Amino acid sequence: MTAMGASLNGRLDRLWQRGRAFLGTDYAIMGGAMSWVSERHLVAAISNAGGFGVIACGSMEPTRLAEEIHATQALTTRPFGVNLITMHPQLDALIDVCGQARVSHIVLAGGLPNAAAIKRAKDTGAKVVCFAPALILAKKLVRSGVDALVIEGAEAGGHIGPVSTSVLAQEILPVMATELPIFVAGGIGRGEAIVSYLEMGAAGVQLGTRFVCADECVAHANFKQAFIKAAARDAIPTTQVDPAFPVIPVRALVNQGTKRFIAFQHEVIRRCRAGELEQKDAQLEIEHYWAGALKRAVIDGDVDTGSVMAGQSVGLVNKVQPCAEIFAELLDQALGALAARTGLS
Ligand SMILES: Cc1cc2nc3c(=O)[nH]c(=O)nc-3n(C[C@H](O)[C@H](O)[C@H](O)COP(=O)(O)O)c2cc1C
Repeated sequence: MTAMGASLNGRLDRLWQRGRAFLGTDYAIMGGAMSWVSERHLVAAISNAGGFGVIACGSMEPTRLAEEIHATQALTTRPFGVNLITMHPQLDALIDVCGQARVSHIVLAGGLPNAAAIKRAKDTGAKVVCFAPALILAKKLVRSGVDALVIEGAEAGGHIGPVSTSVLAQEILPVMATELPIFVAGGIGRGEAIVSYLEMGAAGVQLGTRFVCADECVAHANFKQAFIKAAARDAIPTTQVDPAFPVIPVRALVNQGTKRFIAFQHEVIRRCRAGELEQKDAQLEIEHYWAGALKRAVIDGDVDTGSVMAGQSVGLVNKVQPCAEIFAELLDQALGALAARTGLS
């Protein structure tokens, strides 16, 4: 390595040192858990490439999660985490499974975890990471004893909040970054953006969409092709047609399924207004529309009617490539950005 290369590497190491130490990795880049996508192969590949893979537990039962953790441990000796959805009816048992398998990091996602869940996770000896959708909630989570936070903006794929990554970062990093490691997620597809958030005080970043087209990812070829074809503007939040019938905001690629969902809501609401359906049953019908739709897209390859969850950074995904190559590109871009700052490029 040249003296210039070593100096840039040293700068990057210092910028994300806190995140690397927290994760126990070469790079402070988390592979955000993606249901059906983030299983043993992608998680191990991300960790083996120097990042931090995270298993998406999703709706798995405890025995199924235990199997997935052990299978991942067989594929990597590097650290990885497990993402649990807080509203899972067996959350306590899932936390215990993580404890028995000596999982080093537990990520509690999908709603604010209660203090008891955070304590139970910490009592396993794992470091606990939670999502902070606003400054006030970030402070509350710190008081509950979490070890690190992810702040995820609306650019992200999957379930999203209303606030963009750049605004969340400006609200939360200046106030909280000295208290605990904070990882920024949502809309990050290149190394230059990683450097920017590190310079704002982030300990590291979390990327999801960028890893879907990894060679090692088990997602169906149709799912990957849909990512490669899509532009940023194709990844849009679910449309809600009537405030009286709320829908959960999920960012996914537009397809027949998302278009039909609009007509479906209108029809259900019409039946409700005509007295054919109770309000609560109408609401349930709307909620059930997407049941099983992510699996259908990721595993079965039905990208026409399934839910092709993707973030806006999908526009930056243009080929299937090994995880190690994705990391090499992100690193090159990050070092290039640092070189440009010092006039070394
Ligand atoms: C297909 C898909 C499925 C996801 N599933 C989950 C999940 O099960 N749990 C979770 O906490 N986040 C989930 N996410 C969010 C990612 O973990 C990550 O935070 C997000 O993708 C980061 O934004 P980006 O897509 O812009 O990189 C999912 C994202 C995608 C694209």
